[in-house]
Amino acid sequence: MPPHPHCHWRSAQDWKTFGLEFSSPSDEACKMYDACLTQIVNHFDDTSVGGTEGCMNKMFQADPDFLMGHVFKLGAMFQFVHKNYAHAQEVYKMAEMAKKPHVKPWERKHAEAVQYLSEGNLNKACEKWEDILVEKPMDMLSLKFLHDMYIVNGLSQGLRDSCSRVLPYWKPDTPCYGDLLGMYAFGLEETNMYSVAEKTARKALDINRHDAWAAHCVAHCKEMTGEFREGIKFMTQTENNWNDNGLLCHNYWHWALYYFENGETESTLGILDNHVIPFMKSKKTMFSVTDTASMCYRLEAEGYNLGSRWSDCFEIAKEHVEDNVWSYYDINTMLACLGSKNKAESDRLLASVKSSIKNGIGDIAKVYSDVTLPILEAIKAYDEEDYDTAVEIMKPLKYQVYRVGGSHAQRDLFNLFTVNAALRSKLPENQKYASHLLMERKSQKESPLADRLLQNLVISH
Ligand SMILES: [Fe+2]
Repeated sequence: MPPHPHCHWRSAQDWKTFGLEFSSPSDEACKMYDACLTQIVNHFDDTSVGGTEGCMNKMFQADPDFLMGHVFKLGAMFQFVHKNYAHAQEVYKMAEMAKKPHVKPWERKHAEAVQYLSEGNLNKACEKWEDILVEKPMDMLSLKFLHDMYIVNGLSQGLRDSCSRVLPYWKPDTPCYGDLLGMYAFGLEETNMYSVAEKTARKALDINRHDAWAAHCVAHCKEMTGEFREGIKFMTQTENNWNDNGLLCHNYWHWALYYFENGETESTLGILDNHVIPFMKSKKTMFSVTDTASMCYRLEAEGYNLGSRWSDCFEIAKEHVEDNVWSYYDINTMLACLGSKNKAESDRLLASVKSSIKNGIGDIAKVYSDVTLPILEAIKAYDEEDYDTAVEIMKPLKYQVYRVGGSHAQRDLFNLFTVNAALRSKLPENQKYASHLLMERKSQKESPLADRLLQNLVISH
């Protein structure tokens, strides 16, 4: 992958001129922080500088007490912080470091935000980052962490507004300006402003055609507006611009979604087998498990036998059964356990989630209790062919599922799950409910999938 447009890393003085003064006097630490930040915003490892990991090592070699370096490191692995006691020690050390008198107020707020994050208090962490941006609108780290957290807690307006509030301060020659446009575009898309979202994403792509997040945003727009053919064309034309980026698996998943909706199963499976599953096996990330499991579920519900694909998925997911750090991960882990017939592991997941709710604090425990656990129980009921219970659980959650986070396209899994459970139910009212949900889907976009399912419903009656 070619270097990012921003690759002249800023010294301590450059950052000060930019409006973000660090308490560290080390030029090298400040430059490596810039390199780390640019890479995580772009979901890629710049091998010319040693990747994010290499830059972090250089950053701490230059200044082991670089507070914003510790903030970056701990905040960037947000998924793990609040369940891992080794990291809890690091958070404690960072909090102590932040008490030193030479620390700048904006840096101290960052440390406080990461501390909230480590306690599972996502909303309080977001308040801190929003607070920093009022004083420091050029702070990309606050913007990036907010972006990630608003995806995790499902607050779409936050995705859009955190960017729109600061955008007037940014200029086209500001480092990472295109990346901010890409993030803003995604916020616009998640708040259903598809036309302006796509235009904004394409502006970001004009600045950097390798901006995989902006390409991902265009993919979302095509999905949400039902322009599946256009989406396939866009992915085909741009594939070489994003297929060596960390987002490649997820972008291929979006591509496969178009084929799935169109009923082109061979093409869906082709993408799953040639891109999504190989990436998951090599990187072993939970994000790639969600892409695989959610696609396997969609295909299985339409009657396809996924064979060893479920066990491929389970092999990675089984290591995360007791993580309980993000609902959307756990829900896909449940699908992987049951899809691969590992019922004992699905029971272990349920027990772990119940224990997290009992012992947990912060916003995460509340979401797990209100929404995540019921969804997991609905999936279990579906697996046991108790479709009536699955529908009964999912019905009142319809306007609550956003709280498990992810995008509209990812959460479409729950719409389809409810439809499939209702279609399999013997109760006439559930069958009717399924047809209503499918008509709702058709009212929002062209949906060959809804047409297929509605047709089956008519034939079976
Ligand atoms: Fe996506």
